[in-house]
Amino acid sequence: MITADQLRQKYLDFFVARGHKIIPSAPLVPENDPSVLYTTAGMHPLVPYLLGQPHPLGKRLVDIQKCMRTDDIDEVGDTFHHTFFEMLGNWSLGDYFKKESITWSYEFLTRELKLDSGRLYISCFAGDEDAPKDEESAAVWQSLGIPADRIFFYGKKDNWWGPAGLTGPCGPDSEMFYDITQTPCGPDCFPGDNCSRFSEIWNNVFMEYNKTGPGKFEKLPFPNVDTGMGVERTLAVINGYADDYLTHLWQPAISLLEKLTGNSYSTRFRDFRIIADHLRAAVFIISDGVQPSNKERGYILRRLIRRVAVKLKSLTPDITTTASRLSLLYVDQMSPVYPELAVNSALTQQTLADEISRFLKTLDKGLREFEKIEKIDGKTAFDLFQTYGFPLEITAELASAKGYNIDTREFTSEFKKHQEMSHTASAGMFKGGLQDQSGTVVKYHTATHLLHQALRDVLGDHVHQKGSNITSARLRFDFSHSARITPEELIRIEEKVNQKISVDLPVTRTEMPKDQALAQGALAFFPEKYPETTSVYQIGDYSLELCGGPHVSSTGQIGRIKIVKEESAGSGIRRIYAQLEK
Ligand code: SER
Repeated sequence: MITADQLRQKYLDFFVARGHKIIPSAPLVPENDPSVLYTTAGMHPLVPYLLGQPHPLGKRLVDIQKCMRTDDIDEVGDTFHHTFFEMLGNWSLGDYFKKESITWSYEFLTRELKLDSGRLYISCFAGDEDAPKDEESAAVWQSLGIPADRIFFYGKKDNWWGPAGLTGPCGPDSEMFYDITQTPCGPDCFPGDNCSRFSEIWNNVFMEYNKTGPGKFEKLPFPNVDTGMGVERTLAVINGYADDYLTHLWQPAISLLEKLTGNSYSTRFRDFRIIADHLRAAVFIISDGVQPSNKERGYILRRLIRRVAVKLKSLTPDITTTASRLSLLYVDQMSPVYPELAVNSALTQQTLADEISRFLKTLDKGLREFEKIEKIDGKTAFDLFQTYGFPLEITAELASAKGYNIDTREFTSEFKKHQEMSHTASAGMFKGGLQDQSGTVVKYHTATHLLHQALRDVLGDHVHQKGSNITSARLRFDFSHSARITPEELIRIEEKVNQKISVDLPVTRTEMPKDQALAQGALAFFPEKYPETTSVYQIGDYSLELCGGPHVSSTGQIGRIKIVKEESAGSGIRRIYAQLEK
């Protein structure tokens, strides 16, 4: 058996031996990247570098990145979709391109992981008005011995990756599939058709383009490579499993669920997979600072936890204890790789217990109400959400399990409205995404550094950043501080920031060893998350922070800021919203 630890290590070693520098996993909540709710791929934290900014560690990078894909929530329950997963990634920032990238992927798969090259299938970009057919990648694959009839060409939908927001780096990709069952699912069985025969294990994106608007693709200053390989799927493939949940990453959780609920995986596999997946995702999300709420990231977390509660209810009377035991198992299992899980374990336990108990108060009544309903229309679904806290997909799932009649059209439109609520800012966020590097977003970013220091000046040095989110309409900053901030303090904080803006301090970026920066008192969101050589932004003699940027070149460009709201963002954490004055 090859373990996840061995797979991660083999991958890092392989690329380090080929000149790559290891970068740490960024948090699941993108820091200062308003374009997405969660980090969905290893490339997110690297966007400024893919667009041309030099990376302090050079042109070849490798990492293991925590990822969260909310789009896949409905697929979870099958053998290979997950909301949270780990992505192995390697990057060339204007260094090597298709030949080396594909050759190394082939070597890693066949020599290091010992996969049978006769069972590898490949897809490449078919070409369209924006970019030519990727004959070059196909030729490299053929030179490595993959015959033409195992190389498929698809269009943008399948073989183009990015941008992550509306604009940003993107390009054609080449995907690698492994033939798991070696048995066609039907006459039209092909890689990428989502059947259980082919497992997509690796994606090499050749990021040559910057999408600057609808249908507008410009060449980037240099071509990059961005690759991503899912740990969970790859581990299943190399160990000969057709079901990810049979690997040792999931088996401890599955066995514990069997033991605690008295049910078996073989009869309740779908529910087991959903519980195992969603609870693991919740543990990671909470550890990265998110709390359940009715919007954005918090609503996604709420949906995950509540769905776990509903599924557990069908397996055991002891929902809270089972969830708690399972989450502790994940903390133990994963904290050697992700120490933040152990650090935040008590918070995770409390958050899960609180959210489940809040939901259980209304779940029974809601289920009774549900039993009375003959036809689920949009309005009923909304009532179930508003009165009993049922996330809509739970209602949809319960309804279809009972064979109830669902008015899909109305349901879908209500559901869309609802999703908009949970993605509120996602649409707005995309507009002001880091990918555009819009002037306003950059101003907010520098204002955030000033605010961080001003908070420390006024409230004390216990203040540390706990989160940050910027859109083109405002900044939001979370920090450690337990008491409510008085109106007088807020005025002093705001004035401090505006005074630093009015004296037009220069903003400079230097690269230095992380320890040196920390020794000089540089602030850092997650100090352990920054690479050994790191980029540091200094604002006059006022603020020093580890940060990838971008920032304005002098504070005068910001104008003035106004603090518009102050509130609690969880125990011991306050949140401030501020806007640029027009
Ligand atoms: N960004 C690409 C993906 O997520 C490669 O990592 O598939």
